[in-house]
Amino acid sequence: MTASAHSLSFELAPGGALRGELRVPGDKSISHRAVMLAALAEGETEIEGFLEGADSLATLAAFRAMGVEAEGPAAGRLRVSGVGLQGLREPQQALDLGNSGTSMRLLSGLLAGQRFASTLIGDASLSRRPMGRVIDPLTQMGARIEATPEGRSPLRVLPAEALVGIDYALPVASAQVKSSLLLAGLYAQGETCVTEPAPTRDHTERMLGAFGYPVRRQGNRVCLSGGGRLVATPIRIPADISSAAFFLVGASIAPGSDLTLTEVGMNPTRIGVVNILRQMGADIAIERPRELGGEPVADLRVRAAALHGIAIPEDQVPLAIDEFPALFIAAACADGETLLSGAAELRVKESDRIQVMADGLSALGVEVEPRADGMLIRGIGAAGLLGGGRVAGHGDHRIAMAFAISALRATAPIQVDDCANVETSFPRFAGLAAGVGLQITERRAEERAEERG
Ligand code: S3P
Repeated sequence: MTASAHSLSFELAPGGALRGELRVPGDKSISHRAVMLAALAEGETEIEGFLEGADSLATLAAFRAMGVEAEGPAAGRLRVSGVGLQGLREPQQALDLGNSGTSMRLLSGLLAGQRFASTLIGDASLSRRPMGRVIDPLTQMGARIEATPEGRSPLRVLPAEALVGIDYALPVASAQVKSSLLLAGLYAQGETCVTEPAPTRDHTERMLGAFGYPVRRQGNRVCLSGGGRLVATPIRIPADISSAAFFLVGASIAPGSDLTLTEVGMNPTRIGVVNILRQMGADIAIERPRELGGEPVADLRVRAAALHGIAIPEDQVPLAIDEFPALFIAAACADGETLLSGAAELRVKESDRIQVMADGLSALGVEVEPRADGMLIRGIGAAGLLGGGRVAGHGDHRIAMAFAISALRATAPIQVDDCANVETSFPRFAGLAAGVGLQITERRAEERAEERG
């Protein structure tokens, strides 16, 4: 973690409501895949709605370092000159993927099939995250990947003699692992198949199809054969439901709210947050459902509602895996108890999201019981208010944004520290949120020091 990453705080005045209309930035998962497949395609791909956040920019920088030319991004537009599956060049330096687990895991698979060696590095958080989950199956395919003894980055990906397809049953529901193996499968002899224990986001499969690469799905098993080609195609990226989630929760918990989020990605493998909030009593109308670039989208109109606690159905967990920081705030403001279980994965995200959210909620006066695979939250009730105070963001974008919206139901100001990584998935979050009613100010450490001095 750099010094500057610690230096940004959000200061929030308590109360307020969210009103108006907002398009949150482009989907992070789809933005990563768009760059990767465009780079490997034959021809020029025009991407619209690209997320100009640090994570997807890290993926773009990695491909530029491997000789891929791209114009932009500017206002979400990016034009990538594809080099074909065999056209990448050896990078001269380690590829620095910053905070981005998706970049590292997907690239591991893609790079395993190259004729050159590469090194993947990341920030302190990424260097703590488990990579064995991709290294083990990729090694079974013939890949040569070196990691630390604990199975963490830096990763050194060496050229393999040959990759061969495998038939792999994922031990954890992970779209990153599935995607990593499918990308390696593009370079493997024979068929690569991945079976998931529960459905996870299917953007890789959909986008491979859009680039003309045959992918076969039968139930929870997805297969492709190596040796094909990708053909450039225009890509339009919907607004990220994971970013919209903060506003879905914020408008639900803040009395008087009436907010419309436009062009939100509604892929069935991503809409757990809408399903869960509706079960809790949220008032979310799905308006103008339509297709955008092979993905379903809709406008979501959300009005304040009295939420009640629920036992979150375990089948919704992979469909809402990134939305639990926001959902925990909804649960904290609900009537009665909310129980999450079957979500041990939250402990190995950008931070330990169970512990970090439990600590922050406790600081705001909420009774919580963190568990190995989830959390029990005793809501303050529809008429209750959270306390104010200071909460640690732990350099985790989604923790920072979750506590920012909690201020809508607080009695006193809330300061969230260590928020600079919000930039990884949601550039200009504070400005956009302020535009619809969140009373948020960004403060850098230097400004606070000057005021004190
Ligand atoms: C992602 C998959 C999920 C998610 C992450 C993005 C992807 O991770 O948490 O933010 O783009 O494939 P896992 O595959 O580890 O569940």
